[in-house]
Amino acid sequence: MPTQQTLLKLPPLSLYIHIPWCVQKCPYCDFNSHGQKQQQLPEVEYVSHLLDDLQQDAKLVGNRAVHSIFIGGGTPSLFSAKAIKTLLDGVKDRVNLLDDAEITMEANPGTVESQRFADYVKAGITRISIGIQSFQPTKLSALGRIHDENQALKAAKLAKNISLNSFNIDLMHGLPKQSLEDALFDLSTAIDLQPPHLSWYQLTIEPNTQFHSKPPKLPEDELLWDIQEQGDALLKQAGFEQYEISAYSQKGQQCQHNLNYWRFGDYLGIGCGAHGKITLADENKIIRTVKVKHPKGYMDLTRSYLSDKKVVPATDLPFEFFMNRFRLLEPCPKSDYADFTGVRLDHATKQNLQSALNRGLLIESKDEWQVTPLGRRYLNTLLEMMV
Ligand SMILES: C[S@@+](CC[C@H](N)C(=O)[O-])C[C@H]1O[C@@H](n2cnc3c(N)ncnc32)[C@H](O)[C@@H]1O
Ligand code: SF4
Repeated sequence: MPTQQTLLKLPPLSLYIHIPWCVQKCPYCDFNSHGQKQQQLPEVEYVSHLLDDLQQDAKLVGNRAVHSIFIGGGTPSLFSAKAIKTLLDGVKDRVNLLDDAEITMEANPGTVESQRFADYVKAGITRISIGIQSFQPTKLSALGRIHDENQALKAAKLAKNISLNSFNIDLMHGLPKQSLEDALFDLSTAIDLQPPHLSWYQLTIEPNTQFHSKPPKLPEDELLWDIQEQGDALLKQAGFEQYEISAYSQKGQQCQHNLNYWRFGDYLGIGCGAHGKITLADENKIIRTVKVKHPKGYMDLTRSYLSDKKVVPATDLPFEFFMNRFRLLEPCPKSDYADFTGVRLDHATKQNLQSALNRGLLIESKDEWQVTPLGRRYLNTLLEMMV
């Protein structure tokens, strides 16, 4: 039992903000998002709730510096630049946001035009993440996307031409009826647009989605493997570095916000269904928070924004730490384990690490562990071994 406590150190702090509406629900999506029913979203009201929510959470972090913000969804680009500006100004009034903080907003290519992008930048956004998924019309319609390939190209070109610090393209692979050539076509089209960052996710069929109740025919495992291997090689040839299972970037362009999650950093989570993880060093504990999921309940003034708040039990911490940390390709300093979990390596965890080392899924030096290429290939096995 990992009960031998040590003193917790404070990791870097981020802020996640959830905006739960989309034009329509995509058939593969299990994110907390709702098709837009009204013409007009209640953006003024929702932003005011987000700021009240943050006001309450801010007590947990005092004057700690906030290094990054991620406005995700849903489709945050359904909100006007004015609403995003009110939100970011309000955030600055409530927490200690660093001047050079990375501030990302997710955007759907079906919901942006040039003035809007420029206005988001003026509002304080420094990085835009565009959900393109594919550049092929048949794939976009199979995914129920509201945009076509021309809108996808246009959105990426817009992001490239405005004064953003960085931008990201989200692509998915392993799509219904996708061949190896289709998948490589999507990647080379994205590479030609020279994004500083590219997230390349394999489509997963999630419970409670339309694809789950009516599954499309997906590529066989062997084809998936070819897509993975050849796609990875194409990206590396084009100068991208893989730094996480699904994340590739040009040098120095990693997403700081996501890096902080995977390094077991802290984050406040505000908005519908948002999750937070906060280290309370004075009390030597780590807490997790979850906010009310549905917009109606979240904006109900008679209720609290919080739907759950609990101390993470010491027994959960080893798995939680490694589950995040071993997704990253960079080495993991051994000292981070005790510093950021507050528990010492116990006998069972040492044994789990030793089995992973014996099986070649991990290597170690005096001060670091690192996942091997084999460990990356069998990441789920490695993570299961850490339970
Ligand atoms: C939270 S979504 C929001 C992005 C934005 N709403 C959009 O779809 O354009 C972030 C990304 O997760 C990926 N994603 C969503 N559902 C997925 C699934 N079932 N399997 C793999 N990737 C998925 C997509 O690439 C998507 O762009
Ligand atoms: S637009 Fe994005 S968040 Fe919305 S339903 Fe589609 S994948 Fe999910």
